[in-house]
Amino acid sequence: MARKVILDVDTGSDDACAIMLAYLHKDIDLIAVCSVKGNQPLKNTNENTLRIRELLGGDFPVYKGCASGLVSDLITPRMPRTRNVDAYDENGNKISFHKELFDLPESVKKEEDVPAPVFYVDYLRRAKEPVTLVAVGPLTNLAVALLIDPDIVKNIEEIVIMGGGHHITNATIAAEFNIYDDPEAAQRVLHCGAKITMVPLDATHSAYIGKDTSQKLRKINTPAANFTADLIDVRILVHNQCQPLEVPDTCALHDPLCIAYLIDPDVLKDVFFCNVEVSTSGITAGQTIVDNRAHQEYRNVRFAYRGDPQKFADIFVEAFE
Ligand code: RIB
Ligand code: CA
Repeated sequence: MARKVILDVDTGSDDACAIMLAYLHKDIDLIAVCSVKGNQPLKNTNENTLRIRELLGGDFPVYKGCASGLVSDLITPRMPRTRNVDAYDENGNKISFHKELFDLPESVKKEEDVPAPVFYVDYLRRAKEPVTLVAVGPLTNLAVALLIDPDIVKNIEEIVIMGGGHHITNATIAAEFNIYDDPEAAQRVLHCGAKITMVPLDATHSAYIGKDTSQKLRKINTPAANFTADLIDVRILVHNQCQPLEVPDTCALHDPLCIAYLIDPDVLKDVFFCNVEVSTSGITAGQTIVDNRAHQEYRNVRFAYRGDPQKFADIFVEAFE
């Protein structure tokens, strides 16, 4: 039986890979995709999501969510985000992980009228069976839905979050981007009572994807496979110059690792059920603070310290074949 999934995205390049993996893999039933601001402003993350749906010929609904964080953009005493150094392609053109808008045709079919947080509340109140939520952007939509009706947790089977970092950060000295962008939302979601699995940068960086995967996708030679191969090759170039991984010429494909975990949980290694808290201010704003002590009583998150690169690459390519 395919696993029912709602994806929450700030579509960017790895979010696009998560949408495609979820839509194409037989073990996943993609119910809906909700957009939130993050990698780009909401109008872009939403439009990029719609363009990926049309690239796939998908029929899942898209719900547009929150355009800013709960309070994080109102608070000044926070460690400013450290802009990554710029990366350049072989022709000297500046490149980045996430283009403002994908080089795909403008979407024809638009998002639903209902805002994402309202969709979450309506759908989860009426759900006949629990649903898995996969959040791979800032957690604002889910936090707002929980503010409206905390009881929706009853119909959430599990929340899988791409976010956080223990030994690895990217947005600041202390924080990973999705959590940094709305730490108050993250703290609210981490304490909502649902089963939570967190896929942090420690896992996504160790489950690196290389050029062998983009070459396999090119051999499949469908529009979705070729578009994804291009995304991977750009990410490899940027990682090599801005965030080199343990293996050169590889990239972290953060978001689809959350979907791969639903397909085969063994793709995550060293998963520790523990207490995770989020700092919401000052120099550590957005930091995920992980309790590694053996005697802790309160545990709220299954935190994955590592990923399996070969398993991940195999799952990813299998979906496109
Ligand atoms: O830090 C990585 C995360 O931030 C990924 O989800 C990426 O898409 C960005 O949202
Ligand atoms: Ca994302």
